[in-house]
Amino acid sequence: MSNKKLSGEVYYPSQETIDKANIKDWDELNKYAGDNYQKFWEERAEELHWFKKWDKVMDDSSKPFYKWFVNGKTNISYNCLDRHVKTYRRNKLALIWEGENGDSKTMSYYSLQRETCRFGNVLKSLGVKKGDRVTIYMGRIPEIIIAMLACARIGAIHSVVYGGFSVESLAERIEDSNSKVLIVADGAYQRGKIVPLKQIADEALQRCGTVEHVLVVKRTGQPINMEFGRDMWYNELINLPVVSKECSLEEMDAEDPLFILYTSGTTGKPKAILHTHGGYMVGTYTTLKYVFDIQEEDRYWCAADPGWITGHSYIVYAPLLTGATSFMYEGAPNFPYPNRWWSMIEKYGLNILYTAPTAIRGLMRFGESWVNRHDLSSLRLLGSVGEPINPEAWKWYHRVVGKEKCPIMDTWWQTETGMFMITPTPTVPLKPGSGTRPFPGIKMDVVDENGNPVKDNEEGFLVIKTPWPAMIRTVWKDEERYIQQYWSKYPGMYLTGDSVRRDEDGYYWIIGRVDDVIKVSGYRLGTAEIESALVSHSAVAEAAAIGLPHEVKGNAIYAYVILKAGKTSSPQLVEELRQHVSHEVGPIAKPEHVEIVESLPNTRSGKIMRRVLKAKALGQDPGNISTLEE
Ligand code: WTA
Repeated sequence: MSNKKLSGEVYYPSQETIDKANIKDWDELNKYAGDNYQKFWEERAEELHWFKKWDKVMDDSSKPFYKWFVNGKTNISYNCLDRHVKTYRRNKLALIWEGENGDSKTMSYYSLQRETCRFGNVLKSLGVKKGDRVTIYMGRIPEIIIAMLACARIGAIHSVVYGGFSVESLAERIEDSNSKVLIVADGAYQRGKIVPLKQIADEALQRCGTVEHVLVVKRTGQPINMEFGRDMWYNELINLPVVSKECSLEEMDAEDPLFILYTSGTTGKPKAILHTHGGYMVGTYTTLKYVFDIQEEDRYWCAADPGWITGHSYIVYAPLLTGATSFMYEGAPNFPYPNRWWSMIEKYGLNILYTAPTAIRGLMRFGESWVNRHDLSSLRLLGSVGEPINPEAWKWYHRVVGKEKCPIMDTWWQTETGMFMITPTPTVPLKPGSGTRPFPGIKMDVVDENGNPVKDNEEGFLVIKTPWPAMIRTVWKDEERYIQQYWSKYPGMYLTGDSVRRDEDGYYWIIGRVDDVIKVSGYRLGTAEIESALVSHSAVAEAAAIGLPHEVKGNAIYAYVILKAGKTSSPQLVEELRQHVSHEVGPIAKPEHVEIVESLPNTRSGKIMRRVLKAKALGQDPGNISTLEE
């Protein structure tokens, strides 16, 4: 690859980048890992701590239920904390945090371990045991990391619900996971306002009946309802003198569940993706180390939210596994001014920034002068995730933020993959808008309807052909859905749900989802969630939601609604419906526009043809409509 001339617009790495990089020769690594991927992953696993070594690297005897590091015993929380506390990293900063209101906090590896242990003991005293589910609902504050690590330490399975979700989404996820404990913050600061998380949780708890204990982290301090016997203050419990800073940990089987994370799929309710202690740990650790080239002195910032997979893998687990110093910021990028992010990069001397195209496009709108008033010379690498990045935003990011010296790691992956799958490493030549090639050891392909590879530059379905350690193990409580959704279209190949094009250099260009998932500002939402929120409103008979292109958000939600007999359309009702979705699902799901219609394009079997709605909205040809009911 290195000597071959690449087609199109290509950005080559500087000598400085090459000199510094952990992985200097991608082709060599790719060949090595490609020839024996199990050996490659086994060697990576050996860099981490195991109480007992595995008998076998990978077991595919009951595929698609793959197992990794069979019979190995480990604990990811131990690897994130205790492993470093025993070394020179004990007093190294694990976390630098800044609140939207200017509060700040730093935690060393030792202090993070101590708090995690104390909280682990609190959870144990409430009766939380290995395998129990704990729901976590908070903003971007250090306690969310502590809560996740404490669960992992004692073997509980965490289920984090993004703080931007609302009543029904939270209730549904608590109920489905059967959580006995909920950890929530009183509120979160967002764009100068308070999101009343505890109040939303109270409403959700009225709709589901599994939770026995609610632990409330004080962040905003506004008055909240504390239900006697059920609700307790995290801050009071964790500081009780009887709570020890030693907390014995569970030796977890490599395949024991670490967490479930709900995500939207093709049909129906969000499903819980299950990840495990062993393989997930090895996969996230390796990919962060190689792709963001983590160096001992780095300060790394992943600006996602811990409530989504990007935050799970690359704010919480991988940075701690690599012993990095991570930065986390609570609030909005443009609060109080559009220079907030740039001022923090300067203030803390951050070296790596990993964010989503929507954030870049949003900040780009304010113009470069906001960026240019800050010294961003500490930046070494940039990253992008969540949706395809348009070349215009890529170039702005590269030129204005990265001053043409920071390679952009455009990482394609999913909640299900757990780790980066298509991504460059710093020395790989880049093409704006492409995530380049699969990570070493990963085999992917682009196939047609029948599973046959398509020609270069033709659009097809993206599939994964080799197992990888951080892969989804199953859909929680629904093995059938796991098989059906990912492994049934093409036996032996994992179906990603994305369409893609691969060029003559082997570079992948993601086009987008081919199912009923809509990516709004990089957030993954299902049409079914939005539609079911709409029909839960008393005026609505039927609803359909689609995503239409949006300059900043990538996609925006458009909803079409048939009213119940006797209800009449009005601008007030339209606004009420938008608010209703925001209240039930969350502000991120609020439709850009709701249109009241008389009928919807249904197939003869009653399925809404969203494709037809989309084509009509865009003024395009709807294609084959032979199954459309008259
Ligand atoms: C999309 C987010 C283009 C894709 C980590 C995928 C991307 C879905 C990229 C998964 C990227 C993610 N370029 N598209 N770099 N990264 N996607 O589960 O459609 O929230 O299937 O995981 O996001 O979304 P999820």
